[in-house]
Amino acid sequence: MDRVTIFDTTLRDGEQAAGGTLNVPEKLEIARQLENLGVDVIEAGFPISSPSDFEAVKIIAKEVRTPIICGLARARPEDIDRAWEALKEAEHPRIHTFLSASDIHLVYQLKKSRDEVLQMAREMVARAKTYTDDIEFSPMDASRTEHKYIYLILEAVIDAGATTVNIPDTVGYAIPDEFGNLIEGIFKNVPNIDRAIVSVHCHDDLGLAVANSLESIKRGARQVECTINGIGERAGNASLEEIVMAIKIRNDFFDLTTNVDTRQIYKTSRLVSEMTGFPVQPNKAIIGANAFRHESGIHQDGVIKMPITYEIIDPRIVGIPGSSLVLGKLSGRHAFRERLAELGYSLSEEGFDRAFSVFKELTDKKKEITDKDIESLIAEELRTVSEVYHLDRIQVSCGDRGIPTASVKLIDPDGQVLADAALGTGPVDAVCKAINRIVGVPNVLTEFSVKSVTEGIDAIGEVLIRIESDGVTYTGRGADTDIIVASAKAYMNALNRLLAAKKAGA
Ligand code: KIV
Ligand code: ZN
Repeated sequence: MDRVTIFDTTLRDGEQAAGGTLNVPEKLEIARQLENLGVDVIEAGFPISSPSDFEAVKIIAKEVRTPIICGLARARPEDIDRAWEALKEAEHPRIHTFLSASDIHLVYQLKKSRDEVLQMAREMVARAKTYTDDIEFSPMDASRTEHKYIYLILEAVIDAGATTVNIPDTVGYAIPDEFGNLIEGIFKNVPNIDRAIVSVHCHDDLGLAVANSLESIKRGARQVECTINGIGERAGNASLEEIVMAIKIRNDFFDLTTNVDTRQIYKTSRLVSEMTGFPVQPNKAIIGANAFRHESGIHQDGVIKMPITYEIIDPRIVGIPGSSLVLGKLSGRHAFRERLAELGYSLSEEGFDRAFSVFKELTDKKKEITDKDIESLIAEELRTVSEVYHLDRIQVSCGDRGIPTASVKLIDPDGQVLADAALGTGPVDAVCKAINRIVGVPNVLTEFSVKSVTEGIDAIGEVLIRIESDGVTYTGRGADTDIIVASAKAYMNALNRLLAAKKAGA
């Protein structure tokens, strides 16, 4: 059976989503999980765009050995050289270079003629080829480009050494049949197309990214570019989990396969959601909280009699934990370790000890600890790994009479304990002000939201906070049974990301 190459761009186009900034350790953690998921290519970043992107591509290239590691570069010599600098230690490196192709972009943005663009594309692919064999070229805004011109560019870049030619629907404008015709046209009209893989890269502005991608593979494309949870620039990119599962479940229709281990999908989705701070909408296909919930009595009756009546996917295939067993006060290290393994987590011994002590504290506050509680607790543990300042403790006093007051103790990077206090308009405001007095980095809080992880009055509350500094948004998350403590953790998490980014010079 023919195989479709899964090119994951969560760390590049996905991270371009407004407010989705990831730091270097977070990108490495996601890249490792993408390797477990079995994607063929990881687009790890855009090395020339910032020192931290360069660093992320470099470390991923060094540490993640199975998939192809790809770095993005505009069709400019300095971009290509920088991309190679970041990629050169990869086991399987790929340079992906791109250049606008549509007249709209050429006239209004690049101010160059078609001939000039064609020449630049050819030269830059040839330059990239001096570094490595695996070269991808994308004519940006291809879906709004005259087809004949695309054929000419593709022929030229393949001659210059491109091994993958990627057709982007950059602004999410294409309609499946029309986009499919473009792909078919490429196979018919580019004389040397047999020397390259045809790839597609679709955006979701009209909600058609997955449909356009699937139509393209039906017409011969053999690489699909996509992101976990469909995150990405504006309305996002084609969602990896939807494409992979469509190929798997409708194998009768596509007669194609992928390398993806679908049992890793849920875990990867949770990790990306945690780290980017973008929640997954409940009705999201494949991994949304409601994707396998049946509310109507008729449906429930059918599923009890035979799941296939209303369920086209067994949730276990995408790694959704099937167990409803709960842990509690009497559960020990062994039971906790086993449940972590079942959920697919492997922590260092030190990380496990920390997570276990938080778990034990939680069992004092909450009778039943579910898988969702454990996932939230592990996410909290992962957040502490890349901290600059650590929140040691907080104390808050508030009510309908007095002025909300907070005192906080933080541990700085040298291990020193720093304490301060502040008044605020509410308890969260007071906590943030007290923290700011210690950390001293100007920022504006732009978003604050709380949700509970499970039902019940004793549920863990998860807080999401976004702050802005110098025009960049940083997201923080925190979880605790006390939502003021969760807010303090989320604020610290956002501040730590800001500090790490400033240190990396992003
Ligand atoms: O959407 C787009 O055109 C891109 C290119 C860089 C491939 O992301
Ligand atoms: Zn894109």
